[in-house]
Amino acid sequence: MHSVLITGGAGFIGQNLVHDWSSKRPEDRVVVLDALTYAANIRSLEPLIADRRITFVKGDIPTVLEMFSPDIRWQVSGRAGIAGEYRGHDAFWD
Ligand SMILES: NC(=O)c1ccc[n+]([C@@H]2O[C@H](COP(=O)([O-])OP(=O)(O)OC[C@H]3O[C@@H](n4cnc5c(N)ncnc54)[C@H](O)[C@@H]3O)[C@@H](O)[C@H]2O)c1
Repeated sequence: MHSVLITGGAGFIGQNLVHDWSSKRPEDRVVVLDALTYAANIRSLEPLIADRRITFVKGDIPTVLEMFSPDIRWQVSGRAGIAGEYRGHDAFWD
């Protein structure tokens, strides 16, 4: 059993990683961190949260790393995608 931190877990890549990891390694303790920016979609994670298969934390990366020292850390957070740029979304320019 491992403790696993996935940052950006509500993003495009992160969501798929969270579902894949939790189904293939149900014994692991999975903590998902996401700042819930414009790019995030928490809805796909809601069944896993409701079933207590993952712990979801809304926050920024440095905050969570102070609280939690995982065995495995997947960092798929970021400000990605030209779609945000074309939409002129403010968050893209932070
Ligand atoms: N999708 C691709 O095809 C692709 C290709 C190459 C590289 N990447 C890189 O992979 C990473 C993930 O890509 P994606 O498509 O899943 O992006 P995404 O924008 O869909 O998801 C990124 C997630 O990170 C979260 N986030 C942003 N800043 C954060 C912070 N400081 N703390 C916590 N969470 C934060 C966002 O809320 C979002 O849910 C990015 O760094 C991207 O540049 C993606």
